[in-house]
Order: sequence, then C-alpha cells, then structure tokens
Amino acid sequence: MSETPLKPFRLRVNGEQHDLTVPAHRTLLEVLREDLRLTGTKHGCDLGECGACTVLVDGVPRLSCITLAAQVAGREVTTIEGLAPPGALHPLQESFASLGAAQCGYCTPGMIITAAALLDEEPDPDLDRIRDALAGNMCRCTGYIKILEAVRLAAPGSADREASR
Ligand code: FES
Ligand code: FES
Repeated sequence: MSETPLKPFRLRVNGEQHDLTVPAHRTLLEVLREDLRLTGTKHGCDLGECGACTVLVDGVPRLSCITLAAQVAGREVTTIEGLAPPGALHPLQESFASLGAAQCGYCTPGMIITAAALLDEEPDPDLDRIRDALAGNMCRCTGYIKILEAVRLAAPGSADREASR
C-alpha cells in the first residue's frame, strides 16, 4: 500500500507562525480545527456550499473546506479567534450579541468573518449589499433578519451605530 505523501510548510494563522508537516491533501479546515485546535471555524457541508468554514486569507473570505492548507502557505489566515485582539470583541461580535443574531450559533463565525471583509471594504453598506455579501453563508436556523441588522449596526459608517452609542 502506498503511503500518503507528507508536505512540510509554514502557515501563518492569526499572526502566529506554524511549521506543519501534514498530508498534501489535508484541507485548511482540517488543519485549523484538528491540528491547531482552532475550532471556532465550523465544519458544515464540506462541499463549499454553506459558508460555515469561511476564514480570511490575506483579508479575503475563503472556504477552508475546499482549500488545501498547503495552498495558503505563507499567506495570512484569520479565523474568528483572531478577528479581535485577545480579550476584546470585534464590533460585529458585539452587534451579533446585542441583537441576538446568533441562534444555535453554528453559522455565526462564518457570517461574521464574511461580514468583516465586507465592512473593511465598504464602511456603510445598505441591507441589499449586506444580503449579497452574505449570500454564500447559510443559516439552518433561518433567522436572517437579525443577522443583516447586526452587520448594519456594526458598519463603521452606519447611522444606526452612531445612534446606539
Ligand atoms: S463546510 Fe465549507 S462551505 Fe460548508
Ligand atoms: S444560527 Fe443556527 S445555523 Fe445560523
């Protein structure tokens, strides 16, 4: 029986460097959850269809279940654990909590990661734009309205955010 080839490479996750030697076919999702124990990124469909596994690679949302870990060697990977400094919350985490936008919470990390990339690019997106950006993130609890409102509330340019201060 032939052995699975191992591939050594360096992965940068949430600002930390990791030297890994894993099978070449190991996905980024598997490495994050099983090797690095960063279980905030969720394992949903495994088919690139639900968005639960979304992380940022150099600031751009990427589905980690259909990305090989070795493909992102040397790039900056950000998971939900690294979105805010230790002990602090990202504005999206605050708004999701304050509006009750997480139901079972399984889709929430992927939603927040995707929304964070949107707000980095667009400080004041309207609800249609937010809906478009989150179109690839499924919520099995299906309460999408609060999710959209929470992203809007966290937007740096949102009048709602100013009013809530
Ligand atoms: S687990 Fe990756 S898209 Fe569903
Ligand atoms: S909050 Fe349950 S899947 Fe979205």
